[in-house]
Amino acid sequence: MTIKDISKSYDPTAQVVMLQGDNLKHLKSLPDQSIDLVVTSPPYNIGKDYEKVVATTKYLEVQRQVIAECVRVLKPTGNLCWQVGFTKAGKEIVPLDILLYPIFKDFDLKLKNRIVWTFGHGMHAQKRFSGRHETILWFVKDIDAAYFDLDAVRVPQKYPGKRHYRGPKKGQYSGHPDGKNPGDVWEIPNVKAHHVEKTEHQCQFPIGLVQRLIRGMSPVGGTVLDPYSGSATTAAAAIIEGRKSVSMELFPKYFKIGVKRATEALTGELKFRPIEKPIQEPNPSNPMLYRNLEDEVGL
Ligand SMILES: C[S@@+](CC[C@H](N)C(=O)[O-])C[C@H]1O[C@@H](n2cnc3c(N)ncnc32)[C@H](O)[C@@H]1O
Repeated sequence: MTIKDISKSYDPTAQVVMLQGDNLKHLKSLPDQSIDLVVTSPPYNIGKDYEKVVATTKYLEVQRQVIAECVRVLKPTGNLCWQVGFTKAGKEIVPLDILLYPIFKDFDLKLKNRIVWTFGHGMHAQKRFSGRHETILWFVKDIDAAYFDLDAVRVPQKYPGKRHYRGPKKGQYSGHPDGKNPGDVWEIPNVKAHHVEKTEHQCQFPIGLVQRLIRGMSPVGGTVLDPYSGSATTAAAAIIEGRKSVSMELFPKYFKIGVKRATEALTGELKFRPIEKPIQEPNPSNPMLYRNLEDEVGL
């Protein structure tokens, strides 16, 4: 695949669609029920360089409009993953998933999981515990009909050789031979300085996080939508996993970074930390070897 596979206007046959501008405008040009999976991380209304802080009611009203369009374009078998952290109210932190949950329920979506994404790096707080998690609300239109491929996302068993020691299954392996369900708490390094995936974007999520969502929640060849695409992490993960994608980004600066990353993903040049890569534990014999050292030095 080459850069020719990137279309800058909506084309349902294109492998990669990248649209610059306001997502509400672009979403309206997408047909009903054309998307297999929505994966996105919206602004948190905390004053990053790509957002202006507004009243929470105003923020939620805009989210409602974008969510309404995402629901309209989602197939009846589709999945929707809204990845959020916390917004602020004075000195308080406010969990965005709690504020957003009633909006998704107004659209009659059903919650499949509230996935906790935990990571090792971030601000060191002095007056509370340092924040080391965000969440992903995974919603579907139809609990039974929604696409889900558990076998595509299994992770190695903790004790792969463990067998039943009594009863009718005595001697047989007690765990699934292809690995276990990854559970709803995922430890995946976040993209901080020196991470191999780091770009100029202030708030990237890691490709590995999106890889697992795409593998489990969309068929090969299906279409993944990210209406707040930033540096196009979702598009890059979709390319790596053989899915089509539609990305929307307001700011030209980030759009350009996204196109570059998608191009590198298409040509196989994009450096990323695959979801399979194990998290490093501290090495007791060498206190200098902190966990995730490989990411720190960009290997
Ligand atoms: C939290 S960041 C997403 C980062 C992305 N997940 C990544 O890995 O790079 C939110 C992004 O939404 C973009 N954005 C904000 N308002 C938008 C709008 N109305 N339409 C399209 N994009 C918007 C911002 O510029 C920002 O890049």
